[in-house]
Amino acid sequence: MSKLLIIILINFSWSINYSEDISSIIYNNCTSCHRAGEIASFLPLTNYSEVNNNKYWIASAIEATDDRHGDPIMPPWPPDRTYSTFIDERYLSDEDVHSFLEWIDLGAPQGDSELEASIPDFPNGSSIGEPDMVFQLEEPYFIEGNNEDNYRCFIIPTGFTEDKEIAAIEFRPENKEAVHHSIITVVPSGYADELDSQDSDYGYECYGGFNLDILTPLVDGYAPGMRTTLYPEGIGDVILAGSDLIVQMHYAPLNTNQEDQSSINIFFKEDPIDRQIQHFQHANPAFMLPPNQITEVSDSFEISNDLSLIQILPHSHLLGKSWEIYSVDAEDDTTNIIKINNWDFDWQSFYTPEYMIPLSAGSTIHMNAVYDNTSDNPDNPSNPPEYVFWGDGTQDEMFFVAFRFISYEEGDENIYLGETISFSQGDINQDNMINVLDIVTIVQFILDFSNPNNIQFDLSDMNNDQILDVLDIVILIGLILN
Ligand code: HEC
Repeated sequence: MSKLLIIILINFSWSINYSEDISSIIYNNCTSCHRAGEIASFLPLTNYSEVNNNKYWIASAIEATDDRHGDPIMPPWPPDRTYSTFIDERYLSDEDVHSFLEWIDLGAPQGDSELEASIPDFPNGSSIGEPDMVFQLEEPYFIEGNNEDNYRCFIIPTGFTEDKEIAAIEFRPENKEAVHHSIITVVPSGYADELDSQDSDYGYECYGGFNLDILTPLVDGYAPGMRTTLYPEGIGDVILAGSDLIVQMHYAPLNTNQEDQSSINIFFKEDPIDRQIQHFQHANPAFMLPPNQITEVSDSFEISNDLSLIQILPHSHLLGKSWEIYSVDAEDDTTNIIKINNWDFDWQSFYTPEYMIPLSAGSTIHMNAVYDNTSDNPDNPSNPPEYVFWGDGTQDEMFFVAFRFISYEEGDENIYLGETISFSQGDINQDNMINVLDIVTIVQFILDFSNPNNIQFDLSDMNNDQILDVLDIVILIGLILN
């Protein structure tokens, strides 16, 4: 009896192999970034040999260790998931990590390659739908392959002649290997033109912000793998007539010369909004970080109306070590908002809770940030450490939190914030109608007059056989005639 059990157990562990057990973990959690043309193309993870050849490196990146407060390096996800929940969280389950380590122990067998998981169909062009307008950088920006970070601001005039109600603003990197992250703000037309004209190359240099003398609303941002928020029905942002967008880019170190000409997708609201997104930036410039010291900076403010929090972005520079932001209401009840145990300048972004977080009038928002200005901090830009104050530069620091919210209405806590625009199969031109225009579009794809993006491909592939051909036209015609 016990012998049988042991044999079954051995058999069970023996059966862990790449094709059946490991490939799906890697392809679904890592390959979005770890493939050619993406931010982590230096380490492609798209087949057995790439994963097998790097298995110990991968193991070290996915294991939680004490010196990182239990956080693994990969997949990158700075917020503490035990503290609060956001959409699109990235993590491996303990079971996934365990299977990977056990697979290595068993000699990393490949198994039957026929049984390998397929690599997901990663979105191209947009991760949420077909944009109404696309603003591209006016010209390609040259990035020198000097292995250094490059921070650059570009002004994009909207040319809007009337105020526009916005459902989403989505940054799309063109050179995904180069673009590490970006943030977007809105200013009155011409506001930053002088900064731009002082710099002979396209755009102007900027590190921690936009180098403006005022705090301007952060309307969106980008970090690899992050999806932009599509505001729910009735809710939207407004971009005023005659505004300029400014996008701040962080280009990662590259060892070859490259170019980037990224773009910003704008989605307008189809129906008028009755609730406008509000932006609030809280900055505390009154701190000093003495050398060779770990310093905690705390700040708080009280809110005077009932609010629903939609997004949050804490921001510090290279001395930043951790963040914690929470709210305490008039009854002394605490609502956790965000905690980042290992602040990483390279992985910052807006975070969107799954559901709006209601914060009642009289609540106090507490913000604590810790800065490590010792030489133990490998990111410390000064060696030996120096006195550090608020500023825009790499050697300066920031204590800055951006909030997006609306005034509270009953039921807000039940509004899900992770929606994407979805169209029915057959609505290939995404106009919410299925008609002869969709046939025209699919015929163009089949005759190779134009190429579908991933979303259009899925909407066109009527029989889901991953091929666009006359069979799809037949089904589409049938649908229209019905
Ligand atoms: C959102 C994009 C993204 C995802 C998802 C991602 N990585 Fe990475 N990975 C990166 C980037 C970018 C780097 C380079 C270091 C950095 O910028 O943090 C990196 C670095 C690494 C490294 C080198 C770490 C070191 O020692 O410095 C390994 C190994 C790695 N990733 C494995 C994985 C594995 C395994 C997964 C899935 C479980 C994964 N990554 C998911 C973007 C990603």
